[in-house]
Parts: sequence; C-alpha cells; structure tokens
Amino acid sequence: MSATEGSSQEKKDVKPRDELPWVEKYRPVEMKDIVGNEEAVSRLKVIAYDGNMPNLILSGPPGTGKTTSVMCLARALLGKDVYKEAVLELNASDDRTLNVVRNKIKMFAQKKVTLPANRHKIIILDEADSMSTGAQQALRRIMEIHSNTTRFALACNDSSKIIEPIQSRCALVRYRKLTNKDILIRVMEVVQQEKIIKNSEGLEALMYTADGDLRNALNNLQATWQGFGMVDATNVFKVCDQPHPTAVKEIILKCLESKFVEAQKKLDAVVKKGYSAQDIVGTISKMVRNGMEEMSEEVQLEFIKEIGIIHVRVIEGVQSPLQLSALLAKLCRASANVIKQ
Ligand SMILES: Nc1ncnc2c1ncn2[C@@H]1O[C@H](COP(=O)(O)OP(=O)(O)OP(=O)(O)O)[C@@H](O)[C@H]1O
Ligand SMILES: [Mg+2]
Repeated sequence: MSATEGSSQEKKDVKPRDELPWVEKYRPVEMKDIVGNEEAVSRLKVIAYDGNMPNLILSGPPGTGKTTSVMCLARALLGKDVYKEAVLELNASDDRTLNVVRNKIKMFAQKKVTLPANRHKIIILDEADSMSTGAQQALRRIMEIHSNTTRFALACNDSSKIIEPIQSRCALVRYRKLTNKDILIRVMEVVQQEKIIKNSEGLEALMYTADGDLRNALNNLQATWQGFGMVDATNVFKVCDQPHPTAVKEIILKCLESKFVEAQKKLDAVVKKGYSAQDIVGTISKMVRNGMEEMSEEVQLEFIKEIGIIHVRVIEGVQSPLQLSALLAKLCRASANVIKQ
C-alpha cells in the first residue's frame, strides 16, 4: 500500500505516520489505490492521462473518496513537487467568505508558477456545498477569467447546493456509497499492515455499521482494535454503540409472524440497554432495506412504508416508547394483511 506523504494533514502539522489516524495514514496517494466507484475513477484516470482537466464537481455521500480522488488527480497531473506550488486547497474549516474568494483565490489564480507543458494550476474547493451563494456567485466570473491557467475541482455531498451557473461550467462526477466488497478490500489491506487480530463476524459488523462509508469503517476498525485488541462483532458494536443486529432481527422476525407481544418483549430488552428510539428505528430500517431471507418483497415494501412514517416522527422529536410499540403493531398488521391476500 502506498504512503501518504502528500496528504494535507501531514503538510499542516508534521506528525510521524504512526501517530496519524488510520484514515489519513491510509489515504490513497495514487488513483490505483482508490476502491469502488469504478466509472467515476476511470473518468478521472482518463483526465490524468489526457492532461486537459475540465472544471470538476465531485458529488456523493461522505467517506467514499471524493477528496482523495481530487488530490490523487492533482498529483497525477502535476507531480509531487509541483503539487505544493500549483495546488490551492480550501475546505470548510478555512474561511471562505466572499472576500476570501475575491482575494485568496484570485491571487492564487494570478500567481505565476512554472508548470509542466499543457498543465494548469488547480484550486480544490472541498465541501463546496457549504459555501455561501454570494461566494459562489463571485466564483463564476473568476472561473471564466482565469480559465486558461487555472482549473477548479469542487467536492461536495449535495450537488444541488452548488448554484446552476457553476454547475454548467463543470463536469459532474457522481460518487455512490461503496459496496461492502469494496470496503472489505481496503479494510483487509489495513488489517494486514497493522497485523490486526479479527474474525469474519467482526469484519461483517464493520461493513454493516459503515453502511457504504469507508472512513467510518476505518475509524471503527482503529477504535475497536486499539480499545479491545480483537475485532469481533461484539466489540465492533460496543464501539459503534448501535443495537446488535441479531437482537433487532429477532424483533423483526416476530413481527413477520404477527406476534406482537413477543416482539414487544424483545424490544423492551433492547430499550433497557439504553438505546434511543432513533437508534432502534434506524437499525430496523437499515435491516429491512437490506432485505432478509425470511421476508418477501411485498412485505418488505409494506414494512419500509410503515418504518418511514415512524422514522420521521422520531427524528422530529417524538421519541416516546409508544412510537416504537406502534411501529411493531403496524408491522405485525402489515405482515398479517399480506399473508391474508
Ligand atoms: N474509495 C476509497 N478508496 C480508498 N480509501 C478511501 C476511499 N474512500 C474513502 N477512503 C478513506 O477514507 C478517508 C476519507 O475519504 P475522503 O476524504 O476522500 O472522503 P470524502 O468522499 O471526501 O468524504 P466527505 O464527503 O465527508 O468529505 C480517506 O482518507 C481514505 O483513508
Ligand atoms: Mg471530502
């Protein structure tokens, strides 16, 4: 696996690699180390090969490799040495008000840098969806004026928060949640490097709690390993502080059989462990969405509908146990109705 010499973290406060959190220590430096989202990454590879980078928006859920991809692309285009000179990284923790856009970005765009032939300076605007509309408006003109020397790469979670005129100036690259298989590939590399003791249930629990977010998986892996010295399912769920899926699965199975009283008993046991209504409904929802062998598609759809209604109520603040009981009753009824038909 590659080292992380170029990461922004290391530039700011130079720490020995062993002190870095694993997400930074194992942040890919080359594009070949990025897992998943093959289509998006191969588009970037073509750009790196061609050398003519358009302005880009990378949009998608957290922890899927957007920031990493932009950094790898910039490094592939400019090389490690020029990277320091010719790349400006701004993220949400930097001040990105209108004035900064006007001054800092403009100054950088005007700066003279010796570049390899046919290459451009690159401005990386991370978490671009948190930039104010005013700042984004100021950016449109700057993007045009400096288009012969500078390219922009914007990373964001929600591309609809980027104003239309900027969207129209950029090529959009969409990232999706990573599959469990992709997450496992990267997690296993770290497991080997760090000589972690684990079992397959532990890895499954990591995939399950990460829900497509590799940053989350690596953070939980580190916390479990350093906290308990063994990565198994029980320890992972302790670290993640989520209800154990087997306990939740039992509740759902009882609802499938329309046995309300028994489902309620199992629910009480989970509530007693101190999990909030939001945690519990969230886990039920995730399990049902992922599908279960015991559940037909018809029942699954009915369940998703009922869970959605209660989930909204709970998120809005009605966290009483009655809501959870109501959910179980509705699931029991939905399951009975489907069987009757
Ligand atoms: N596709 C991937 N391949 C390899 N490592 C990854 C990938 N996605 C995430 N990671 C790991 O997770 C960390 C965070 O990834 P990154 O900063 O690229 O996420 P992001 O998509 O920009 O998320 P956010 O939307 O929260 O900014 C990286 O340092 C890396 O260790
Ligand atoms: Mg990012």
